Amino acid sequence: MTRLPMTGVSVCIFDAYGTLFDVSAIVDGCREQLAERADQLADMWRRKQLEYTWLRSLMGRHTDFWHVTGESLDYAMNALGIADPPLRARLMEAYLTPAAYPEARAALEALKAAGHRLAILSNGSPTMLTSATMATGLDLLLDDVLSVESVGVFKPHPSVYGLVQDRFDCPPASVAFMSANGWDAAGAAAFGFRVVWINRAGLPREILPASPHIEVRTLAELPAMLTA
Ligand code: LAC
Repeated sequence: MTRLPMTGVSVCIFDAYGTLFDVSAIVDGCREQLAERADQLADMWRRKQLEYTWLRSLMGRHTDFWHVTGESLDYAMNALGIADPPLRARLMEAYLTPAAYPEARAALEALKAAGHRLAILSNGSPTMLTSATMATGLDLLLDDVLSVESVGVFKPHPSVYGLVQDRFDCPPASVAFMSANGWDAAGAAAFGFRVVWINRAGLPREILPASPHIEVRTLAELPAMLTA
């Protein structure tokens, strides 16, 4: 992994949840009610949500990310002994209006000003992504929002990353792909993109067949790292 700037980039693609939008803060509005179980619920919900995307993809039983998000929340609530339909409804609603990470807007503005085309590529359903980008105002900075729903399988299936090429008609080497999810970063690198891992949590590198090319701590470091 290098710290040198990445040159020859014309398209910047962002993962959504965990990368631009703070999924760990989704339970914040319900912390009082969840009390000491809030963090445990947030962690289990997210972990199950991702597991279910991979399992459904392997089983060939796709459903959209909204349903997977609901089913994984049901699992987490069951596991923690929480039976509370109004709370479930509030948590699901919060998923539609996540907060953007504080540095996201300025980073996207700088990349756009530098002439890059910007888009999201996410597991999220089109409805979820429209809602999140509009709620955070990031919609105005993005050239497009690409959802796995166009191919009916979740990341890291290669056909998901192929959506970027179909949309922007560019070689993979001109695409910088940004994800805070180490496994997504590996999937994008395996596809041939040049990958920046936003390693917010300071985690060790995933041991998978391909690795990200650059590692940063937040999106704020991107404008200096990506040059045309
Ligand atoms: C996404 C998931 C991986 O936005 O967070 O695609």
